[in-house]
Amino acid sequence: MSRIAYVNGRYLLRRDALVDIEDRGYQLADGVYEVCEVRGGAIIDQPRHLGRLQRSLGELRIRAPVAPGALAIILRETVRRNRVRNGIVYVQVTRGVARRDFSFPPRDTAPSLVVTARSLDLAANERRAARGIAVITVPECRWARVDIKSVALLPNVLAKQAARDRGADEAWFVDREGRVTEGASSNAWIVTPDRKVVTRPADNGILRGITRTVLIGVVEAQNLVFEERPFTLEEAYGAGEAFVTAASQIVMPVVRIDDRPIGGGSPGPVARALRADFHRHAQRT
Ligand code: PDD
Repeated sequence: MSRIAYVNGRYLLRRDALVDIEDRGYQLADGVYEVCEVRGGAIIDQPRHLGRLQRSLGELRIRAPVAPGALAIILRETVRRNRVRNGIVYVQVTRGVARRDFSFPPRDTAPSLVVTARSLDLAANERRAARGIAVITVPECRWARVDIKSVALLPNVLAKQAARDRGADEAWFVDREGRVTEGASSNAWIVTPDRKVVTRPADNGILRGITRTVLIGVVEAQNLVFEERPFTLEEAYGAGEAFVTAASQIVMPVVRIDDRPIGGGSPGPVARALRADFHRHAQRT
């Protein structure tokens, strides 16, 4: 847990870091967020994450709480104050505090900004990647703008818990056409039996993951064939390999989907090589 949090202009001890009960994030999920990996004390791909935050804010017409340069300083300072070497930094912006009303609050309502940072166990993450994870599938039931990284995550929460209840680690959403959209908190990928690396186009139906964007470059640098196209659950069952990407997990091999082993039932060479190479391509600040 973050020991120190930035809350609307102040760095506070966790127990003093409070938000107003009338905050629109709390009452209406009227806010957006970002999660960046921290590795060796550096924030990974921060400009891309802050760029996506700006986009999410713009799509929802929420004012930026501070200038981009100031936000970068706040992230760095929050990481430093929490002494995070390996972990994550979390940024949340909401439309601010106002009397509960669905329509926008008065123009002069200040957006709320919270930043936290916490350590993650790098070695445990590596062990998990060496084992691979199990995925279940659930029907896609989210709204049509999941390209916006909004804090309204109830379908994702329920999907993740369904995975946990079935002894799995992640849930993949599957649309009415039988195509995999993405994971509850990650993007979904497969490697075909003839070694093509496939992930779905980043339209409004998935979050355009920063890890996904960087990894496309890694795939190309490794001279693998990349195909950006929808893939079905049936195709995933028969894939040579599968994996998920997210800032907190980088490339995480998937070894079971709905209790069916994928490939040989252990992490495949393509996923392992992409994982090993990722940070050479990511930006560190
Ligand atoms: N989740 N899709 C969804 C629905 C996500 O929640 C995430 C990330 C991703 C991957 O995006 P990125 O590569 O930029 O992390 C895709 C973060 C880590 C979270 O909510 O904790």
